[in-house]
Amino acid sequence: MTIPLSRPPVDDEIKEAVLAAIEGRQYILGPQCKELESELARHTGVKHAVLTSSATAALWMIMRGLGVRAGDEILTPSHTAFPTIEAICFAGATPVFVDADDWFTMDPKDAAARITPRTVGIVPVHLYGQPVDVPAIQDVASARGLWLLEDCAQAQGAAWDGRRVGSFGVAAALSFYPSKNLPAMGDGGAVLTSDDNLAARCRRLRDHGRLNKDVHAEIGFNLRFNELQAAALRVLLRRLDAMNDQRRSLAARYAQGLRDLPLTLPAEREHARHVYHLYVVRTPRRNELAAFLKDRGIQTGIHYPVPTHRQPAVEALRPATLARTERLVEEILSLPMSAHHTPAEIDQVTAAVREFFAR
Ligand SMILES: Cc1ncc(COP(=O)(O)O)c(C=O)c1O
Repeated sequence: MTIPLSRPPVDDEIKEAVLAAIEGRQYILGPQCKELESELARHTGVKHAVLTSSATAALWMIMRGLGVRAGDEILTPSHTAFPTIEAICFAGATPVFVDADDWFTMDPKDAAARITPRTVGIVPVHLYGQPVDVPAIQDVASARGLWLLEDCAQAQGAAWDGRRVGSFGVAAALSFYPSKNLPAMGDGGAVLTSDDNLAARCRRLRDHGRLNKDVHAEIGFNLRFNELQAAALRVLLRRLDAMNDQRRSLAARYAQGLRDLPLTLPAEREHARHVYHLYVVRTPRRNELAAFLKDRGIQTGIHYPVPTHRQPAVEALRPATLARTERLVEEILSLPMSAHHTPAEIDQVTAAVREFFAR
């Protein structure tokens, strides 16, 4: 049987919550969404959560709300999902690509070196479930009066020194894409912030720039969320910490099973609570290993094979060469990981990887 890269949860409690929301007959931004917004804000330790259609939408709304303008430069890691970059471009600003550190996240020293008089903010990405070096990035931002917008799409529930990511910057974006740590049955996302004005502005932007039913104060868009997804997410948010514990326990099982192989395993930073959105190993024999596992019914992924600064869509920006990012994308491989994989499946993957290196 195939072992998928990720497996979203489905069970009776989730189905019943969705059925009850169907009976509610109020499908857009109704009571389930309101409750979920309060619960998400409380879970992260911020004042407001604003549900929206995706993390891409959340990132865009936040940057619009922060008054980003054409010509503004925003520092962000190249090694991220393309939507991080896309949202910056869509907000009218210019992404300035930063190289990766030893943990695959934004290198604070390289970020500091790329600041110019046009730089207005930093969008660090807590990649694969691991927080960036939070104090180092905060220092870079505060030394130059830059805002911090945390991309938490891959790290909901992760923490630095016991404090959740998403609570360190002026705002943060969450994603509920089905493989994410808090998975919906479709697309979804949220803005997190403790800034009252920014939260109000995002609420307006997600609903056609509306001040009220009849008055549109600005051009927004339809980026609303819906009750069926919110009902399911409320059930899963109650389980998020336990689901993340399960990911951590499967990661520990991988670490035990894969020790002593010529394979670089994910390292956990001191101070960080890693929530293993992905379990990413590194080997120069990546393509061979992926093909070997595929032949044995084991799905793997590459997050991401083409660095964002090398994407044709941003060619016109003529981004700099980023040596570490360009090297690591040749060697990374994501092994099956979710809160709903079994220890036996992890053992099966581990045995196959060991067999590959034993040949
Ligand atoms: C780091 C990161 N940022 C942003 C996004 C965009 O999320 P969404 O698909 O919810 O728009 C993703 C999703 O792949 C992501 O991994």
